Amino acid sequence: MVKICCIGAGYVGGPTMAVIAYKCPSVEVAVVDISVPRITAWNSDKLPIYEPGLDEVVKKCRGKNLFFSNEIEKHVAVADIVFVSVNTPTKTSGLGAGKAADLTYWESAARMIADVSKSSKIVVEKSTVPVRTAEAIEKILTHNTKGIKFQVLSNPEFLAEGTAITDLFNPDRVLIGGREETMAGLKAIQTLKDIYAHWVPQDRIICTNLWSAELSKLAANAFLAQRISSVNSMSALCEATGADVTQVSYAVSKDSRIGSKFLNASVGFGGSCFQKDILNLVYICECNGLPEVANYWKQVIKINDYQKSRFVNWLVSSMFNTVSGKKIAILGFSFKKDTGDTRETPAIDVCRGLLSDKAQLVIYDPQVPEAQMIKDLSIPKFHWDQPASTIHIYEDVVKQSVKVVHGAYEAAKDAHAICILTEWDEFRSLDYQKIYNSMPKPAYMFDGRNVVDVAKLREIGFIVYSIGKPLDPWLKDMPAIA
Ligand code: NAI
Repeated sequence: MVKICCIGAGYVGGPTMAVIAYKCPSVEVAVVDISVPRITAWNSDKLPIYEPGLDEVVKKCRGKNLFFSNEIEKHVAVADIVFVSVNTPTKTSGLGAGKAADLTYWESAARMIADVSKSSKIVVEKSTVPVRTAEAIEKILTHNTKGIKFQVLSNPEFLAEGTAITDLFNPDRVLIGGREETMAGLKAIQTLKDIYAHWVPQDRIICTNLWSAELSKLAANAFLAQRISSVNSMSALCEATGADVTQVSYAVSKDSRIGSKFLNASVGFGGSCFQKDILNLVYICECNGLPEVANYWKQVIKINDYQKSRFVNWLVSSMFNTVSGKKIAILGFSFKKDTGDTRETPAIDVCRGLLSDKAQLVIYDPQVPEAQMIKDLSIPKFHWDQPASTIHIYEDVVKQSVKVVHGAYEAAKDAHAICILTEWDEFRSLDYQKIYNSMPKPAYMFDGRNVVDVAKLREIGFIVYSIGKPLDPWLKDMPAIA
């Protein structure tokens, strides 16, 4: 029986390994992590991450050929294939701070693999890493072993949170990079290919050299984020000219060379990957003497930041240039619907912007726990993935201005304005007349996800700002200072 061990039981390690176990009953899969609460949750009825379809897959395999454990070394020692799916955040200090990937977790995992291994293994990079990380990993492994052979493969993950299980069941492609120039490298690639071939058609398994696989992941995320920043840049122009961004993006998307996905204007992209991977790409370009290329990609992040500050500026300026002491209802906090993940969610920057103008926030999100929101609003940028001891927490200050509630109606009651920051389906079908009746007037709606029917809400009496839509007459007189 082939034995797989995955180091890192997070948003990627958990779902990917659950699907491998589900699709390959003849393979034994152990998912290991240093975090005791995370593993305890994976072994409980309340999994540590919310992902549609995940519960069923885990329930079918757990205890049969899928195991979650904190006994990292024990499982690594006996594995044939070791996936490494640990976090690779942006460095917060030292050389490349704010841009380069922090490979501390990766390096310690690699050293541990070298220390505990007694048999040859294939080590698979599942985490998103800078180009040529595999070379560093190879060095760590070969300099620390007693004649044991390791083959390093790059197998970046393309799943999207919120649709992870369907993405894993039916991937557009699986990418495997390896040392194609050697027999051992080719054999390792084939071994991993055989695992995926249990359910992925052969023509969707792409094999490349290591560096192409590593760079393809960074490039794919940069291209996806670029589409969002492109349509968001158009949304600003739509507001200035009276065009409607939904109509523009629909017309653009009908060109088969462009296509329709990732063209929805919004308050900005979030998630753990886009920003960090682009910053990483920018850093690699700079290190390789390519400042023009670095600046090109940097602009994708700048437009994303601009979009968030534009949203806050519209809100404050239209409410007579101050939100001090005003109650603002925040609907949605996760970075997109169908996930409880808040890493780099635009809601953090929007809420911070409002808090800096002394607003009182009442937040509702169907999946994000209160403690997570308070923590997110209390820590400096990029620090969400750092060990707790390095986090400077201002929780008490935040708690004075932020209340978390359990429903949209409760959040909106007595609020001067509502901000929709995540496109949860339930926000499309709220009784907005009832909400309007419960708010002081003028009642404002700031829709950061183009969720509401603007005409209908204006008819009810709301002053509505919806990203990239023709402006409410009220807002025309109060231009946002971006
Ligand atoms: P995560 O933070 O949810 O999970 C990482 C896990 O690794 C944590 O539970 C942590 O405790 C554990 N860990 C860290 N060091 C360890 C060690 N030495 N030994 C054992 N466990 C250790 O991160 P996530 O979101 O799963 O991302 C993992 C990687 O996958 C990152 O490189 C990310 O860029 C990439 N990725 C993430 C996607 C996403 O949608 N979240 C999609 C595709 C790739």
